[in-house]
Amino acid sequence: MPDNTNKIIIAIDGHSSCGKSTVAKAIAQKLNYIFIDSGAMYRAVTLYCLRHNLINNGIVNIPELRANLGKIKVSFSFNDKTNHNDIWLNGENVEQEIRLLTVSQNVSPVAAVAEVRHLLVALQQEMGKSKGIVMDGRDIGTVVFPEAELKLFMTAQPDVRAKRRFDELTAKGERVSYDEIKANIIGRDRYDETRDESPLRKADDAIIMDNSYMTREEQLEWILNRVVGI
Ligand code: DC
Repeated sequence: MPDNTNKIIIAIDGHSSCGKSTVAKAIAQKLNYIFIDSGAMYRAVTLYCLRHNLINNGIVNIPELRANLGKIKVSFSFNDKTNHNDIWLNGENVEQEIRLLTVSQNVSPVAAVAEVRHLLVALQQEMGKSKGIVMDGRDIGTVVFPEAELKLFMTAQPDVRAKRRFDELTAKGERVSYDEIKANIIGRDRYDETRDESPLRKADDAIIMDNSYMTREEQLEWILNRVVGI
């Protein structure tokens, strides 16, 4: 296992709702690394767009968004009550709000805007300068950290993913339909994979992990076994 003088970058990409952040967070805790959920950053920008009417019916007002980018400040702050790096948008903790289905339903077109990606990728690269980081997203191994020492590409069957997300949202009290969630997951994957700007794709040197039938413990062990080999 790498010690503090030999920290690495672990890049985890993959499909929507397959538990990337959960496993990334657990690995970071185990290795005493920083965990960054890059999807939270795209969600925070989407929340800003929703609040400022910069997106309507899935269409982003790109000129207005460009003009407002300088006003969007996204950052993370460690919450010692939850042991989680919460996301903040312009001085407000939006960790809960960015998980709402309305944000999930609007995030793909916002994440496809080149200027949004350039802004957030620069922030992400800054966060990884000292290594010792586990970051999950869609373009971490391909664009953000192409030199990452360990790259994973996670996936799971759509039904398994939809069921997990449905259970998670209903446990929080959100009234959602399973079919709506499944459609959102499949739609986001398609959008992420076919957009022009940094589409979701497996890096050539990434290892695939299908966790459809793996427990969280098995996933953690699977990944830690690969860290040991580095
Ligand atoms: O990981 P997530 O589902 O919270 O991410 C939300 C959306 O943000 C996802 O549909 C695609 C986009 N995203 C991206 O384009 N690039 C990343 N590095 C992370 C997320």
